[in-house]
Amino acid sequence: MFNYSYFAGSRVHLGLTGSVAAYKMLDFCRDLLGADIWLSASLTRAGSRFVTVDSLRALGVSPVYQTLFQEPDQPFPHLEPAQQADVLLVAPATANFLAKMACGLADDLLSSQVLAFSGPVVAAPAMNPGMWEASATQANVATLRQRGINVLEPWSGDVACGDVGRGKLPPPGEIGYHVLRGIAPQDLRGQRVLISLGPTREHLDPVRYWSNPSTGKMGAAVASAAWIRGADVHCVCGPSDPDLPAGVKRTHVQTAQQMHDACIELWPQMDIACLSAAVCDFRPSRPQGEKLKKKDLSEGEMPIAFSPNPDILHTLGGNKTASQRLVGFAAETCPDMETEARAKLQGKNLDGIVANRVGGETSGFGSEVNSVLLLDRTGSVNSLDNWTKADIAWHLWDWILHS
Ligand code: C5P
Repeated sequence: MFNYSYFAGSRVHLGLTGSVAAYKMLDFCRDLLGADIWLSASLTRAGSRFVTVDSLRALGVSPVYQTLFQEPDQPFPHLEPAQQADVLLVAPATANFLAKMACGLADDLLSSQVLAFSGPVVAAPAMNPGMWEASATQANVATLRQRGINVLEPWSGDVACGDVGRGKLPPPGEIGYHVLRGIAPQDLRGQRVLISLGPTREHLDPVRYWSNPSTGKMGAAVASAAWIRGADVHCVCGPSDPDLPAGVKRTHVQTAQQMHDACIELWPQMDIACLSAAVCDFRPSRPQGEKLKKKDLSEGEMPIAFSPNPDILHTLGGNKTASQRLVGFAAETCPDMETEARAKLQGKNLDGIVANRVGGETSGFGSEVNSVLLLDRTGSVNSLDNWTKADIAWHLWDWILHS
């Protein structure tokens, strides 16, 4: 989630307040620092009962602040995040701390830092469900949201005290997506984006299917990048486990026909579609209602007839309006990938196509890294060699926005 190199060198200030969920933020700090994001932190007095200054410092968080009246070389610690950080994250945010933020109190270091901070603020609450539902907390959250602070919804489940309900700290990965959205240019705000991703499965019988090794990673990186840049994103996902922000809408499908039907229904409401799914071009013509048995072999072979599936990208290209933009992917094994991809660009009425080689030792399926060509209608070719899928996705949006 943090591996878009666009964010390397960005600066995040993390405020930890007094909830047992604070321990979950230590891995988050490691991930952020691992992505070359600069991270400082402040602990409230209660926060420091759950994680220590030493654990944060040992991970590389610097500086770690605790009190208003600190080291002589830091005379204004309450102003430093305002001067240095791109985004301020309070996670976990207790009911007490949200109340202080809503009132504009500045009676300790972190609340003073939040008050002085004029950039984007994200708060990830964690508390007992009764405290979250209390009308005072709800009124405070409404006040903060109305002021533009991104207060995340806590998740539902069993909380530390044994109660069950809404009050859990959102997963750190999900918090991370909101932090990145706070930093990123919102140049896709107002754009409705459709992404297809993953493989499709075409059943031969109730327990066997015809498919391919697509993991949906490339499509998930494209969808997440669009969401981080402010788009309203809807994914149509073939069977896969994509890592996506919770704010991305999704429709889960199994077969090419189901993916086709879902995409056709969504397309008229969309501004841009990027179809990255590895759709099975064929499906067994006569799927069996019962599991095929060895005795069904005829002369030692199992003859299976296949019929073509609908070409989703081609159908969307045929129904494209002047204001809509459509990008396809072309996974190729042939030597002249560019010519093949260009034929698809024309034949399917696309605005752009991403061609990548599959089937070799460094196949595009499932890998973190990929080598692709971006082709557009003007004839321009952009080669991205050995880039991470995250960076290809980020660049793809720059390319779509500026071509
Ligand atoms: O023609 P080819 O299958 O190589 O084109 C690949 C592109 O077409 C990808 O964007 C893929 O998602 C899309 N596709 C589709 N429906 C199919 C087959 C491929 O939308 N039945």
